[in-house]
Amino acid sequence: MMHSRHILLPVLASVTVAMNVPTVMTQTSGKILIAHRGASAYAPEHTLAAYRLAIEQRADYVEQDLQISKDGVLVCMHDLTLERTTNVKDVFPDRASVVNGVKTWRVSDFTLAELKRLDAGSWFKPEFKGERIPTFQEAVDLVRGKAGLYPETKEPEVYGSRGFDMEKLLTAALEKNRLLPADAKTPVIIQSFSPASLKKLRAAGLKVPLVFLVSDLDATAGKWLSDAGLREASTFAAGIGPAKALVSADATLVTRAHAIGLTVTPYTFRAAGTREGKTVKEEMAEFLYRFGVDALFTDNPDQFPRR
Ligand code: G3P
Ligand code: CA
Repeated sequence: MMHSRHILLPVLASVTVAMNVPTVMTQTSGKILIAHRGASAYAPEHTLAAYRLAIEQRADYVEQDLQISKDGVLVCMHDLTLERTTNVKDVFPDRASVVNGVKTWRVSDFTLAELKRLDAGSWFKPEFKGERIPTFQEAVDLVRGKAGLYPETKEPEVYGSRGFDMEKLLTAALEKNRLLPADAKTPVIIQSFSPASLKKLRAAGLKVPLVFLVSDLDATAGKWLSDAGLREASTFAAGIGPAKALVSADATLVTRAHAIGLTVTPYTFRAAGTREGKTVKEEMAEFLYRFGVDALFTDNPDQFPRR
């Protein structure tokens, strides 16, 4: 179950915000733990095993990166392609596209029935053999009532160019599950690196918070994290989700974002990639309690430093 200290309160509503955007995350009700691709340090990312473990490890939200099958079904997977996390090369050796001379297997070239034939667990550890790519619906069914959902519209422009409308599919899925607005036991936050995707969701009047992800690898990061950029982001998002390096590099970022009503949710904290010899628990504590971020994405939910 969600823990009461994590119920999201609308305290940031007292902050003057330029538009009518739900602003419901807050540090005053406790810091928020988002299981990144599930408990993905311990189980294969974006499998039901990883989501189940995230819930056992008391995640407040379980993240779903979204892709779309050939027959238009939302599935949970980080990559646009299948070869890193499944055995697609063995099951469908002749179904690759060739990009710059390299074979690649695009999610959207396979129907859901075909995707379900793939093993999404063995690449991680043999004991996870047989784990399948979950649909978003399967993720909802597993998580709802136990934690929040945190879907990301992944590469929505790419899917748009292939004739799909990811925002429409996500909105329909949430509506079908009566999660618009979200229910008390299953809060929903939608995230994206794409301002266009978030603007589209905002224009559709979705009554869930939107979080704008900012990559440290993107040349526009500096622009978005300037005062003017944050003000612009606040017209279509309730919070920002910067790469953690962007937070540690700018001591003013959290304060400046909070001052205009934006929450701050950095990514990604993992035992396999900490700074300055810190444990992942120490690193998360530094960001939550020294830098003052509201929430964070981690592969290691069991290491989340609760106070
Ligand atoms: O969504 C937050 C974080 O997951 C962004 O990075 O590439 O893991 O989706 P990525
Ligand atoms: Ca993500």
